[in-house]
Amino acid sequence: MLADSLFIINHFAQEFFTQALLETDEGRHIGLSYLQERGLREHIIQKFQLGYNPENGDAFARAALDKGYNAEYLLKTGLIARRAGAQGSEFPYRDPYAGRIIFPVHNLSGKIAGFGARSLRNDPHTPKYINTPENEIYVKSKILYGLYQARQAIGREDECLLVEGYMDVLAMHQAGIENTVASSGTSLTTDQLQLIRKLTRRLTIVYDGDAAGIKAAQRGMDLALEQGLDVRLVLLPDGEDPDSFVHKHGAQALREFISSHKKDIILFQLETAAADVSDDIEKKSALINQIAATLAHLQDSTDFLRRQDYIRRCSQLLHIDEQGLTSLVNTFIR
Ligand code: UTP
Ligand code: MN
Ligand code: MN
Ligand code: MN
Ligand code: MN
Repeated sequence: MLADSLFIINHFAQEFFTQALLETDEGRHIGLSYLQERGLREHIIQKFQLGYNPENGDAFARAALDKGYNAEYLLKTGLIARRAGAQGSEFPYRDPYAGRIIFPVHNLSGKIAGFGARSLRNDPHTPKYINTPENEIYVKSKILYGLYQARQAIGREDECLLVEGYMDVLAMHQAGIENTVASSGTSLTTDQLQLIRKLTRRLTIVYDGDAAGIKAAQRGMDLALEQGLDVRLVLLPDGEDPDSFVHKHGAQALREFISSHKKDIILFQLETAAADVSDDIEKKSALINQIAATLAHLQDSTDFLRRQDYIRRCSQLLHIDEQGLTSLVNTFIR
């Protein structure tokens, strides 16, 4: 089957990249020293099976084709690409991830569905990360980076932390917060939330505290509530992600910051909005409608008390009638 072939190729690639990182001079001098400069310890590099794609533009493509893997399938994985103007050239393929650090992305059963590849340069003309294109086994909307490595801790802690990026997952795991996964820079999907919901109903979003981070968190909120998730939000200081926070303040400080800044996302949204509406009647009624719509997502039988509690707090905060808000919420419930 096609899917099996793609998994086999990805497995071969992961071993190739890991070997290139740990057992070649180039990998050690360039790749490994980059990871070490970023503070990553060996056990994390191993746990996440990080790798390195040599700079020489077709080392992987040659190794994979030599091994007998089918070029069509290799192209589908995104691990090789056709060389531009390759007509009649001696070897028509190249490595799109050449010179990059490789982050394998595992599915829940531990098979490698795809890869993220980070450039070592910080230049605005090179994309920082390249990700596997959508194919039969890599469906972006169903992937959470780190879920395989985090699944046991998520069960144990009965909580899942969600961060933005690859390096954030590694930094969190290294800091001992192993129940962490990443949405990898995309907005959250229902499929991703369902994957989490199977392991726990408590989701804590840990995003950068800037406008973009707040917006991304709020976009995921209604979807998460629909899935019956209990969502909390931790906003890091503006401009920081978990990885940069650890570098500035250390692992202990990150753990403390997260545990002391968890905020119920509905109350967070309400407080931010309430501070903003003051006495403007139109703004206020728009806000009330928006909140009522959000609360209407709490439809589980077990959500009844939570919904009532939110309604009580909202009415107090906005100085409105509790019964009135209850009726309004009910009009949104299908
Ligand atoms: P960030 O720009 O915050 O990168 O993007 P980062 O994770 O902090 O990485 P470092 O610390 O600079 O190495 C967050 C996530 O968005 C996705 C990646 O999943 C990344 O981890 N992204 C970002 C891409 O897919 N492509 C990009 O070019 C940039
Ligand atoms: Mn990051
Ligand atoms: Mn940001
Ligand atoms: Mn970041
Ligand atoms: Mn970062």
